[in-house]
Formats: sequence, structure tokens, C-alpha cells
Amino acid sequence: MEPIIQESELPETPEPEATRRDAGVTESSRANRGWWDRNADDYQVEHGTFLGDDRFVWGPEGLDEVEAELLGPPEELAGKDILEIGAGAAQCSRWLASQGARPVALDLSHRQLQHALRIGGGVPLVEADAGALPFADGSFDLACSAYGALPFVADPVRVLKDVHRVLRPGGRFVFSVTHPMRWAFPDEPGPEGLSVAASYFDRTPYVEQDDQGNAVYVEHHRTIGDRVRDVVAGGFRLVDLVEPEWPAWNTQEWGGWSPLRGNLIPGSAIFVCVRD
Ligand SMILES: C[S@@+](CC[C@H](N)C(=O)[O-])C[C@H]1O[C@@H](n2cnc3c(N)ncnc32)[C@H](O)[C@@H]1O
Repeated sequence: MEPIIQESELPETPEPEATRRDAGVTESSRANRGWWDRNADDYQVEHGTFLGDDRFVWGPEGLDEVEAELLGPPEELAGKDILEIGAGAAQCSRWLASQGARPVALDLSHRQLQHALRIGGGVPLVEADAGALPFADGSFDLACSAYGALPFVADPVRVLKDVHRVLRPGGRFVFSVTHPMRWAFPDEPGPEGLSVAASYFDRTPYVEQDDQGNAVYVEHHRTIGDRVRDVVAGGFRLVDLVEPEWPAWNTQEWGGWSPLRGNLIPGSAIFVCVRD
């Protein structure tokens, strides 16, 4: 049957314009919810195999929690209540459940959580913004986030304070983000991504906007010092900052992350924080 509307008759959606400009809490949240809803299908097709359905990978380098043990020894995860923030399709939560933990996978994007349902495994899913966690104080023993939420929010201290609130004393929050150093370089996997092109100190957000000037994707840059101060302002004690090196086995590119660049400059930063 012929489609009622031919593709050629559909109004063309212009490519968003990439720029650097301010973007507040609400605008960033709205833009990123829409972006992840629109792009979740492609994201899972492109990265799902690398992520694995029930692996805990901290970032494009492929550092696996099995070897990193940043949440503690795997044998001590059993019986722990763990909140995963910006969980996507809940791959990390599924691995935590396989260790006997009780994870809850939270994400802003409905479509990402539909992929979590598609993969299955029975992990509880919560659709919410990391800046307003819908849990009582002291609900979790541990919290984690592998590139979920923190790179995208305008007010990371608000997120950190809320994670601190929902953790029990002695709990850890471990989160990974793009290494701040990457902001000075073009986001390209090849040699063109090896020359400094912008100021590391320019915190102006990266924004993609439509032809009306509405943000459709936002990332927020913080320097290493900013991130440390954010962790402390959130009430946490920073006990480690891990910069995974690119391993020889990983020949796969992920956007601007590649073996070429990974062997020369850090691509991810993982903050290990304790709630005393
Ligand atoms: C790069 S993915 C990381 C997910 C998973 N670890 C992975 O590697 O696929 C980022 C996730 O963060 C979510 N996210 C972005 N901003 C968020 C926010 N403010 N609150 C909660 N989740 C958010 C997105 O919807 C997306 O699923």
C-alpha cells in the first residue's frame, strides 16, 4: 500500500546548529530528554553490543567494574540497595543484580527505559530527572552513574546534594564523565582531534539548537577543579579520581573516543566519592 504522505512531501527538519551558549537547568533537562528519546534506538543499535546487556562498563575505554571494583569488591555487592543514575537501558544495573545487589535504574528518557524493558531482567525502572530524585532520605547503600546525567546537567551540585541525601552514611557515589581535558580538543577520533582548538577554561555549554533557537541537546563543561569543588559542595569526600588508560584490546571508536586519542590523552574521568 502506498503511504498516505510521501516522504518527499514531509516538511524538512533542518539540521540543528551547534553553538556554545548558556543553557539553564530546565532548558538542559528538556533538551536532553527529547534528544535521548529521539536517539535512544540508534544509540542502542550502535553501542549495545559494546555495552553488553549485563556488563558494567564505565566508558568508551571499556573499563569494566569487574576489574575496577570502584563500588567495592563484587562479593560485597550482594544485598546492597544501589541507585544507578542516567541508567540508559540499565546494562550496569543488570550486572549489579547478577551480583545479588538490589539496583534501581533511573533515567530521564522514556525511550531509553523502554530499551531496558526490551532487554528485560526485572530491574526496577524509574523515569525521573537526576536533579529531583523521587526517593526518601537514606534509601540506598551505593549510587553509580556511567556517563549518565552528570555531563548533561546545568547544576551538578544540585544532583550531588540529592544523591548524598538518598545515600546512607558510609555509602559511595561513583560517576564517570567525559574527561574535562577533552573540551579543549575537537570531538574527532582522528588526528584532527589532537590539536587544541578551544580554551579548557571556557565553561560555556555546548548546545545544539533548532532554527527557533531552542536547545535540542546540551552538554556542560566543568574543569577538573570545578568537578572536585562540586563533589565537596555536594557533601562528599573524594577518595579517588580514575583516568582509565586505553587498553590494547579495544580497537573500537566511540564518537570522538578512539585508540589514537586514547593512547595520548585521557577520555574519561571517574570520581569515587564517599558520603561520611
Ligand atoms: C551516555 S548515556 C549513559 C547510559 C549508560 N551508562 C550507557 O552507557 O549507555 C546517558 C544517559 O543519561 C540520561 N540522562 C541525561 N540527562 C539526565 C538527567 N538530567 N537525569 C537522568 N538521566 C539523564 C540519558 O537519558 C541517557 O540515557
